[in-house]
Amino acid sequence: MAFPISVTSPGRRRLLRGALAGGAGLALPAGTLFAVPGARAAERLAGGAASATAQGAAVLRALHQVIDYPRILDDPLAVPIIGPEGAAALQAAADRRAHGLRAFVALRSRYAEDRLAAAVARGVGQYVVLGAGLDTFAYRNPHREHGLRVFEVDHPATQRWKRARLQAAGIFLPPWLAYAPVDFETRSLAGELRRAGFDAAAPAFFSLLGVAIYLTEPAVMGTMRFVAACVPGSEVVFEFALPAARLAAAARVARERSMARVAALGEPWLTFFEPDALAGKLLDAGFREVEVLGPESANLDYFSGRVDGLRVGESGRIAAALV
Ligand SMILES: C[S@@+](CC[C@H](N)C(=O)[O-])C[C@H]1O[C@@H](n2cnc3c(N)ncnc32)[C@H](O)[C@@H]1O
Repeated sequence: MAFPISVTSPGRRRLLRGALAGGAGLALPAGTLFAVPGARAAERLAGGAASATAQGAAVLRALHQVIDYPRILDDPLAVPIIGPEGAAALQAAADRRAHGLRAFVALRSRYAEDRLAAAVARGVGQYVVLGAGLDTFAYRNPHREHGLRVFEVDHPATQRWKRARLQAAGIFLPPWLAYAPVDFETRSLAGELRRAGFDAAAPAFFSLLGVAIYLTEPAVMGTMRFVAACVPGSEVVFEFALPAARLAAAARVARERSMARVAALGEPWLTFFEPDALAGKLLDAGFREVEVLGPESANLDYFSGRVDGLRVGESGRIAAALV
């Protein structure tokens, strides 16, 4: 089926709508398996080591709490969760002055939480944090009085490490939270979520922040097809990276530095998307609407009027896709 895609307001937020594919299945696909060879983050994690990039992202959120004013993300647990070993990393990150990356890491959480709030207002009662790392939403949950349940999905190695971290920081496990250990490259998201108590007959909100780049494209799209098959009203927000060829020289150099750093930690970037091509794939997967937040809109909506110059660079994008 061909989907009409319109791009509104050039330079502003891109809105791409597809004709509703009517009858998008309400049931979850049985056993969504994403077995792909050569996924190196998956290999590192399969070796039992927790994700080092999860700590890196958490340190940037913590740094945002302590050095940026005004904050675009208020997260009182961001500092406690990085633990004592995070303190040195906090100082090193402050010295590196990677403003654009810090801004983007804070933005992606804020944007997801803004869209989640809108989803809760329309009646969504489940939030699935895919590749949760040290994300603290579940332990803050401002929608608990609306009965929002939270599912944290992550590689078992990272999840084990996070739970030890939470205990060491004295952060309690709230009753609305359930864990689902999943390797996106090899395990069934549907099965593990069901085991954790996910209600496949009710709509859900999903986020996948800072994760897609570390997965193979089949694993990313398998996850997207799983969400697209959820109940109408469901939504996913996820971050993706543009191909290097789309970046200006300075951004390309900065990107190469970041990629080299995380590749050395055993978590190389694997997957990049052109926004229009990605929107087409998401619409083909069964989503009815796709919105891509680019840097111009992000800086306008979230970083205007600042005196510290904090803003996102050109490399990252955040997609929101509605079922
Ligand atoms: C950069 S961290 C992002 C964490 C968190 N979303 C955030 O914004 O801070 C990448 C996350 O992806 C997870 N991840 C990477 N490969 C994975 C895989 N094959 N299966 C499950 N999780 C994976 C890691 O365990 C880690 O939590």
